[in-house]
Amino acid sequence: MSGPSLRMQDAHSSIHEAALYEAIELKHLLQRSIEDASQDKALQIADIMIEHWESRTLKHAEAEEEGLYKDMVRDHPHMEKLVNQLTRDHDLMRRIVGMMKETLSQEKVDLGFISLIESLIIIDELHNEDEMNQLLANDKRSYLDNHARDLKYGS
Ligand SMILES: [Fe+2]
Ligand SMILES: [Fe+2]
Repeated sequence: MSGPSLRMQDAHSSIHEAALYEAIELKHLLQRSIEDASQDKALQIADIMIEHWESRTLKHAEAEEEGLYKDMVRDHPHMEKLVNQLTRDHDLMRRIVGMMKETLSQEKVDLGFISLIESLIIIDELHNEDEMNQLLANDKRSYLDNHARDLKYGS
């Protein structure tokens, strides 16, 4: 999903929730494998987790930076600082995923890896809250007004 649909709070929020739900499920699976000392299984799950974060949350972040964030700054210049802060959150998430890859390349999937995932989940949760409550909540009215105007004048 990209373009105007990311400006719709409900649709956008359900993307966040689906990705986080899967991330938390995978974290539980990994925790269980580590507790059971199933190292091969833990390595496999860790690999799936990295793929999950890259293909869902980091791809979503890229789409936001290329579309939604630029549109928001264009339509609401005072939101530039907020957009920079949200972009910084994306950068932190990219760096933590990079650290997870580094750890996996050394085949060291242990409780330290779980700490990285937990940090990632906390940053993502706070980030999503800010996107919904600060970025999109203030945009809702003007977006609906513009959309109604476009329909009326066919522009
Ligand atoms: Fe984001
Ligand atoms: Fe988002």
